[in-house]
Amino acid sequence: MTERARTKAIVVVGAQWGDEGKGKVVDYLASSFDYTARYAGGHNAGHTVIFDGRKFVLQLIPSGILRADKKAVIGAGTVVDPAALVAELENLKKSGIEVRGRLFLSNRAHVIFPYHREMDKAAESALGEAKIGTTSRGIGPAYEDKMARRGIRVCDLLEPERFAEKLARVIAEKNAISQATYGHPLETAGLLEQYLELAAHIRGLVADTGMLLNRALDNGESVLFEGAQGTMLDIDHGTYPFVTSSNATSGGVATGLGVAPTRLTGIVGVTKAYTTRVGSGPFPTEMPDLDAQALRERGNEFGAVTGRPRRCGWLDLEVLRFAKMLSGIDSLVVTKLDVFDAQKEIKICTGYRYKGKRLTEMPPDAETLAEVEPEYHTLPGWQTPTPGIRDVKELPLAAREYLNFISDQLQVEIGMISTGPERDATIVPRGTKLASWL
Ligand code: GDP
Ligand code: IMO
Ligand code: MG
Repeated sequence: MTERARTKAIVVVGAQWGDEGKGKVVDYLASSFDYTARYAGGHNAGHTVIFDGRKFVLQLIPSGILRADKKAVIGAGTVVDPAALVAELENLKKSGIEVRGRLFLSNRAHVIFPYHREMDKAAESALGEAKIGTTSRGIGPAYEDKMARRGIRVCDLLEPERFAEKLARVIAEKNAISQATYGHPLETAGLLEQYLELAAHIRGLVADTGMLLNRALDNGESVLFEGAQGTMLDIDHGTYPFVTSSNATSGGVATGLGVAPTRLTGIVGVTKAYTTRVGSGPFPTEMPDLDAQALRERGNEFGAVTGRPRRCGWLDLEVLRFAKMLSGIDSLVVTKLDVFDAQKEIKICTGYRYKGKRLTEMPPDAETLAEVEPEYHTLPGWQTPTPGIRDVKELPLAAREYLNFISDQLQVEIGMISTGPERDATIVPRGTKLASWL
């Protein structure tokens, strides 16, 4: 008996520290898939999609929702702030995007409460200079409760009596901690009523999304998995403790959605033509202030959600090699190539030295990574505009050489090149794996 061809199940992961342009890439690819599904993180993410002169910033809802005939899933591995979700739903509605019947929220996802946000902020201010620079959305504390097995899940929210009991228990515990640590109880008046009202708004979306996606794949429907954050922010493999609290790498799909690794058919990694990072932590290829400022302006490198200026640096192939290994990247997307259009010379980090020796692996600790010296290769810039180009052969020679250098060093194809934030500022070279997934 011949095995039936597996249906398309493609993952899009951030290969750096987040904000690589995953939203734009997912929006582009989503037209070729039945479902888009988020597997990790929460509304710490900000995924920008621009088309027909309209701009959307999606936080929790998968970017594929913007295509009217597509279905979208928020999986069990995410943490969901119902107030943020309802606000996002309302924003979409105002823009004429109707989600009922095609957006599904996992009954197993964990719920974020205002006390998670308070604790996020309190933990950050207690750290002072050593703070992580979180998005203050309560993401870390919500995942802490999940791992400590005292979290409240979407399925609990739908059962008022059970929910009231669980919430009372959690509040008593949190109050004891808050009283002992900060000398005052938490602000919890009206919380139960507020959440019951929010529950009424989202009840219609709730489903067993693991079952839903597995059945969809059984029936030959295709799924695009939308990563949030990026490889170096992964809780297990990133620059700990300057990371987020979930698995951003492709493994997060299996645990976060209940879709087995054997069902995945391809992994797309997304990188900018350079590197950015928001928040604290080591960043080996970070540029000196003046250069970073110029790049930040040209690339509009300010947080999609928090508005915070992003730290900027050169492309780091050591980070991308690590990302390729951890997520099993088959095809690399390079975004924001146009931001280098005016650049005279481009530096690219090919590896690290530490105490004079070439490192052969990514240091596990932030302290060592903060001290590595990047080795750079310098390539000429192209100093010609690239937006509007649709064929890779029409890119300036120096731009093609830059892309070829990345591809050769990493031994991975470049499956897509983005030369502007809009949907159509996209080049998909022919004959690539990525082109075969469209
Ligand atoms: P995500 O979190 O990975 O989805 O990325 P963000 O949306 O947070 O940040 C990427 C930013 O770059 C957004 O403002 C996008 O509109 C923008 N962007 C994406 N691709 C390109 C590109 O090729 N060129 C330019 N100039 N901007 C881009
Ligand atoms: P997208 O999906 C960039 C960063 C924060 C902080 C660290 C921990 O848009 O790429 P958290 O609030 O998660 O506890 O913060 O992780 N961070 C992101 N940086 N893009 C993101 O998402 C991020 N989500 C979290 O800045 O350094
Ligand atoms: Mg973002």
